[in-house]
Parts: sequence; structure tokens; C-alpha cells
Amino acid sequence: MGQVKEMKNVLVTGGAGFIGSNFVKYMLNKHLEYKIINVDALTYAGNLENLKEVADNVNYIFYKADIRDKEKIDEIFSIHGIDTVVNFAAESHVDRSIVEPEIFLTTNILGTQVLLDTAKKYWKVNPEDKYCKEYKLGVKYLQVSTDEVYGALGKTGMFVETMPLLPNSPYSASKASADMIVRAYHETFGMPVNITRCSNNYGLYQFPEKLIPLMINNCLKEKDLPVYGDGMQVRDWLHVSDHCSAIDTVLHKGAIGEVYNIGGNNEKANIEIVKLILKTLGKSEYLIKYVKDRPGHDRRYAIDNTKITTQLGWTAVYTFERGMKETIEWYLSNQDWIENIISGEYVKYYEKMYN
Ligand code: NAD
Ligand code: DAU
Repeated sequence: MGQVKEMKNVLVTGGAGFIGSNFVKYMLNKHLEYKIINVDALTYAGNLENLKEVADNVNYIFYKADIRDKEKIDEIFSIHGIDTVVNFAAESHVDRSIVEPEIFLTTNILGTQVLLDTAKKYWKVNPEDKYCKEYKLGVKYLQVSTDEVYGALGKTGMFVETMPLLPNSPYSASKASADMIVRAYHETFGMPVNITRCSNNYGLYQFPEKLIPLMINNCLKEKDLPVYGDGMQVRDWLHVSDHCSAIDTVLHKGAIGEVYNIGGNNEKANIEIVKLILKTLGKSEYLIKYVKDRPGHDRRYAIDNTKITTQLGWTAVYTFERGMKETIEWYLSNQDWIENIISGEYVKYYEKMYN
């Protein structure tokens, strides 16, 4: 068990996206004494509507800024006395990374480096001394990574933290690169870090380019449901609230320098998920359309969560049945939210990817 960490000024990057916005709200509700400073560039995936219920919270501050902008990130550290960083900011969609890899490399890798360099400058006891590995008390940098860095599994086996990184898409390669940079800052500079590697998330406020919200949205509109290849690829689904509680656990109890896998032991084939959505919404399976497979498509992911459950005492609380029921109901009663983000950009994206 790691030391219990006390903190006050938490910089959350990418806090207007799907997981980041759920995390900002989770932290403001759970830790009433913390200040949450949210930095988000508001790309197509960032949406301040996700945060409207906390917009007036006195402990919440928002900056529209890019994590690659060194001067701005420096200014934010100096104004707010940041002692904790949780880096969610990223280009996160595999299909987009296949078409336009460059931004994945600059945001996901160089953005991470800017955050690490700034944290090092403000947190090191003697920042001018390259040999100094002493840091102010209680500071921590947490990198939100993904199980995709491990590559793909066959029919059996699970990802454990000690496995080599074998990413297959430009997205996962950029996330693996960022993990390596974080590790290097720990080894070379003694930076107090953790890396978390989570499996596929689902839940409220997920952008409708990802499997579950895309299928719910198409189903509601009675549009084709585009299933890649044979639909038998397996993902290990975790409710976003459980991901938030796991990150909170690692922030407070994670041993410095350690990597923690996060997953809920919930493997499902894509086609099972699509059929569940159709059934729940009372639609016909005729809507299913098998389409050409994603290039380099990883066949199966499965997380071994033994380390975080046994060493830090974290467990997932959502069952998949409850989580999916709530998620589908939420999209059904929040169609305005979807309509507001299905802008010209989304329509163009959809046509390019699927037609
Ligand atoms: P998302 O695409 O919904 O949100 C990403 C957010 O980052 C957006 O608000 C966007 O505006 C912001 N952003 C992008 N580039 C930025 C930049 N240069 N500067 C500042 N902000 C920027 O992604 P998500 O699904 O919420 O994922 C969040 C993080 O969790 C990512 O790092 C992702 O790799 C990781 N992750 C996601 C999943 C999943 O299933 N969604 C699973 C494991 C890990
Ligand atoms: O495993 C964690 C990762 O999960 C995160 O790091 C990524 O940010 C997140 O996007 C997610 O990646 P996936 O590629 O697994 O998620 P996606 O929702 O894009 O696809 C899930 C599965 O569904 C995958 O096997 C591809 C398939 N799929 C997806 C879409 C969008 C389809 O069959 N049809 C589709 O239209």
C-alpha cells in the first residue's frame, strides 16, 4: 500500500471530454476542500455542456488552453500552486488516428512532455540542479493511459502491468510513447508519477464517435449500425464512474513510480453490445450492417486488475447491466446534448468514415 497523499490544487487536463468531465464532477463532489483547475483546448471532443452543473462551483476553474502551450501551462502552475496533475487531455479515437496521425503525436506525446517539464520546474526542490531528485511534499503527476498500449490478445490471457508495450495503432503508439516519457521523468529526474492503464469506458457524455454512443444514436435514428469485420472483437468494458474512483484511489494511495491497470472483468464481443442496444431500444437486428474492418484492428483486450484491487483496495461497483441501462436511458432523454454536438464537423467525419 502506498502513502496516503494530501493535495489541494488539482490540474485536470482534458476535463471537458468524456472521462475528464466525469472526473471533474466526481472530484468536486467527493473532495470538498480541493480546487479543480480544468485545462482543455475544447477540440471537437471537448464540451463545456458536460460541466454546466459545476460551472459556478467556487472550487472549480476553467481555462481554454492547449497542453502544448508552454507559457500558458507555466502561468497556470504559477497562479494556482498546482500540486497534482491528472492528464486526460488527448486525441482519443483510434479511427481518427488512422486517417490523421500527426495531431495524436503532438498532443499525446509533446503535450505530456510540456506538463512534465512544467511540473518538474515548480515541484523540484532545486530545479536548477540536474542531480536533484527531491520534490515538494505531496506532489504527484498521474498519466491517464490505456490498455491499448499492450497491443492485442489472442483468445486467452490478460494484460498485466509488467508486459512489454506493443501498440498497434497511431493512437496507441502515441499513448505508449507518452507512458515511456513519464517513466523516463521518474527514472531520470525522480518525478513522483503514476500511470493508469484502463480498459474501454462507457457511460454518460461519451462522444458519439465511439462504439456505444454511436450505436445508440444510430439506433434511435433507425440508421445502419456499422459493425467492423465479423463483430467478434472483444473489449473489457468499465463504467466511467468506476474509472474515476480508480484514478482517485491511485492518486491518493498509489506507490510512486508504479503503473496500475484498471478494468472490471467484463469482456464482451462488439456484436453482443450492438444486439443489447437494439434489444433495449426495441429495434430490429436488420439495422446491423457489417462493414470493412478497421486496419490493424486489435482482436481482444482484457485487463488483469489484481494489482489495484489487492494493493490499493479498489473495486468496480457498476454491473454492466445497470451501467448500460442507465447509459441508454441517459442518451434517450438527452437527445438535445447529442444534437448540439452533431455539428457540421461530426457530419463530415461520419460521411468520411462510413460512406
Ligand atoms: P475525449 O476525446 O472524450 O476527451 C479528450 C479531451 O481532451 C477533450 O475535452 C479535448 O478537448 C481535450 N484535448 C484534446 N487535445 C488537447 C490539447 N492539446 N490540449 C488540451 N486539451 C485537449 O477522450 P476520453 O475518452 O475522455 O479519454 C480521456 C483520456 O483517457 C485519454 O487520455 C484517453 O487516452 C484515456 N482513456 C480513454 C478510454 C476510453 O475508453 N475512452 C480508456 C482508457 C483511457
Ligand atoms: O481500450 C481503451 C480504449 O478504448 C481507449 O484508449 C480509446 O480512447 C477508446 O476510444 C477505446 O478504443 P476502441 O478502439 O476500443 O473504442 P471504439 O469505441 O472506437 O471501438 C470499440 C470496438 O468497436 C472496436 O473493436 C471497434 C468497434 N467498432 C467501433 C466503431 C466506432 C465498430 O465495430 N464500429 C464502429 O462504428
